[in-house]
Amino acid sequence: MNGQWWKRSVVYQIYPRSFKDSNGDGIGDIRGIIEKIDYIKNLGVDVLWLSPIYQSPNDDNGYDISDYQAIMPEFGTMKDFDELLKQAHKRNIKIIMDLVVNHTSDEHIWFQRSREKEKSKYQDYYIWAKEKPNNWESYFGGSAWEYDEVREMYYLHLFSRKQPDLNWRNPELREDIYKMMSWWLDKGIDGFRMDVINLISKADGFPEGEVIEGTPYTEKAPYVICGPQMHTYLKEMYKKVLSNYNIMTVGEGLGLGLDEARKITSENSKELNMMFTFEHMDVENIGKEKWTEQRFKLKDLKQIMSKWQKGLEHEGWNSLYWNNHDQPRVVSRFGDDGLFWEKSAKMLAVCLHMMKGTPYIYQGEEIGMTNIRLKTINEYHDIESKAAYERYKNYMGYSEEKIMNCIHARSRDNARSPMQWDTTRNAGFTDGSPWFEVNTNYEKINVESQVNDPDSILSFYRELIVLRKSYEIIIEGDYNLLYPEDDNVYAYTREWQNQKILVICNFSKEHIAFQVPSSFDNKENRLLIGNYEGAALEKEMLLRPYEADVFLFTS
Ligand code: NOJ
Repeated sequence: MNGQWWKRSVVYQIYPRSFKDSNGDGIGDIRGIIEKIDYIKNLGVDVLWLSPIYQSPNDDNGYDISDYQAIMPEFGTMKDFDELLKQAHKRNIKIIMDLVVNHTSDEHIWFQRSREKEKSKYQDYYIWAKEKPNNWESYFGGSAWEYDEVREMYYLHLFSRKQPDLNWRNPELREDIYKMMSWWLDKGIDGFRMDVINLISKADGFPEGEVIEGTPYTEKAPYVICGPQMHTYLKEMYKKVLSNYNIMTVGEGLGLGLDEARKITSENSKELNMMFTFEHMDVENIGKEKWTEQRFKLKDLKQIMSKWQKGLEHEGWNSLYWNNHDQPRVVSRFGDDGLFWEKSAKMLAVCLHMMKGTPYIYQGEEIGMTNIRLKTINEYHDIESKAAYERYKNYMGYSEEKIMNCIHARSRDNARSPMQWDTTRNAGFTDGSPWFEVNTNYEKINVESQVNDPDSILSFYRELIVLRKSYEIIIEGDYNLLYPEDDNVYAYTREWQNQKILVICNFSKEHIAFQVPSSFDNKENRLLIGNYEGAALEKEMLLRPYEADVFLFTS
């Protein structure tokens, strides 16, 4: 069963902790999402992706799950979830859940049983070793192996020590995961976003990681990314679970290359529908450390986006995203969160939403929410930011100023500050005291001030979503990059049957001269959308700061 409805859908990601608090405890919850369901409906999206809402001790904000079939009490109850699903479906909104099965929490019953000395079926549910097998480091800093006093053995954790990796080599474990997935699907959910799903198969023999030049750190990537059994497991999951439902699946692909992405998402592979890839998220410092103060170069961004657009054009499918709960806010990152805030937010939306693939909007992006800037590391919550701070301070000798600049630019907490609903206290997110700082700019940037303004960023997103639903060329058209060397303008075309679209995006604060290719000379055209009044196609255009225009040609 596969209607491929996900090719025509726009997805809205909710990070429940920061979306809307309904009971005044300062933490967003499921009832809060229900309160805002009509807001989501009015935006026009088709699918909601919920970051994890399962029971969890919250070492990594819910990505450490202690019970896959229970709801985190802070977020509500299973009854609340059922109500949300009902309310969403009533409005024709689908819901996909975060599926975190590379690891669990160490408080999950499987791990509790696995660490016991007595033999049980759970003994091999995780990855255990008598001696530390290698020098791998966890993504959150320190060794990836932790000694467990109870079992007197080491276990592998690619993330925090409270997130032990599951042993996918064990068929019984896989069956338990599939059972749990089917349980959710039988409830009526519409698919999964699969957390770091390309890490589930580790290399045979746990080879030593190579030392990264100029650092005391090692590289485990070749041994954990897209390991030898990954496709086998994904195919098995498809056959046993996914193929039984009319759902969508999107996998998170850490360090994923194009060939593997094509293999996973190609229709014939029968694995997943699409992947989140990361190359464009590393654009400031390609192939190196994520923690940098450097700003991106447009040429690099264009090259990466185009590689993926072309690479999955006829085989596979792209997911299109500029940000999520792990990334800085796009308007601060690739746009301008000062003078040209509104223009640049709209321009970025155009640039992404006219591409081929399924677009994802991260909560708050649709109103142009920006990065936060907290003074000291103590004010940050994110486990990854804290680990990075320690690493750069103590082992790499960075100055306080330099580290904080990196944190301000790249911290995951940039995306996690509460949603800005209105100008009341705490931006209308909570009546209580919010679990995390509200951005001080909430009086300017909030839903209330944009929802009825036809010129707002929010209204612009709505228009883009309507366009995607009105023009088949946006779904199907072939993509071609224009002027790859231009460091100010991102221009590309889409082509389908007798139609052509020309997308022109000025990524600069300056007026920029842009030459429309002669193949468009004297062709009849129409402006589909633009972020300045009265833009018209001319041979030589003088683009205004952060101008974005989309022209449709029909011959
Ligand atoms: C990716 C998730 O998006 C991130 O938030 C989490 O920390 C890691 N996977 C580990 O689950």
